Amino acid sequence: MQLALDNDDLTSSLDTAQKSQSQVDVMEVGTILAVENGMNAVRIMKSLFPDHIVLSDIRIVKAGGKLARLAFKSGADWVTVISDASNETIEAVVNEAKLYKNKDVQIEINETFTDEQAEYWLSLGITQLIYHRSNEVVEEEEKWSPEIIDKLKGLATKGFRLSITGGLSVEEIQLFKNIPVYCFIAGRKIANSADPYQAAKEYKDEIIRVFGQE
Ligand code: 5RP
Repeated sequence: MQLALDNDDLTSSLDTAQKSQSQVDVMEVGTILAVENGMNAVRIMKSLFPDHIVLSDIRIVKAGGKLARLAFKSGADWVTVISDASNETIEAVVNEAKLYKNKDVQIEINETFTDEQAEYWLSLGITQLIYHRSNEVVEEEEKWSPEIIDKLKGLATKGFRLSITGGLSVEEIQLFKNIPVYCFIAGRKIANSADPYQAAKEYKDEIIRVFGQE
């Protein structure tokens, strides 16, 4: 379970993280939080939650090596790069991650990814993909389409560890029951809740109900 902190206010984001930490495996310093607060948000998050995986969701699209270095040196365990980035940029991020112990790279994909891209990412040793349903789609559709779920199943079969996100509700988790999803990511529904602990617990309990204890 990953908590996405996309609020621009660091204090309230840390409060949400503090309240829900026992239900969460990955603390995400979301793009908005990182743009507003810089890598200071990553440094503080890692210092407060040293036993959690900290993801810096800076969605790298250029300057891959330099941006990944800033994130990793600030304490991020994982960093995100956008699937539309050039091969050169993606390779620079991967090469930077290889310089440290236990750092990893996630490629954020959307419905436009191709088999050729997937094979290329595998050839670089990339194992983590995030499928991000866009906010626009969330507003237009109630459900994840069976076509997308089939495509995600194909990526899992190729060996990728998949994270699923984008306005995800607790009820939607069971739609992925036939895919070995690595991580579910939720943000607003936890951060905007009156009880972030309970909201995060509802996701975690549903993940365990559908997929079993890890
Ligand atoms: C926004 C993001 C979010 O981190 C992700 O979508 C999870 O948040 P939410 O559950 O609020 O959609 O990448 O761009």
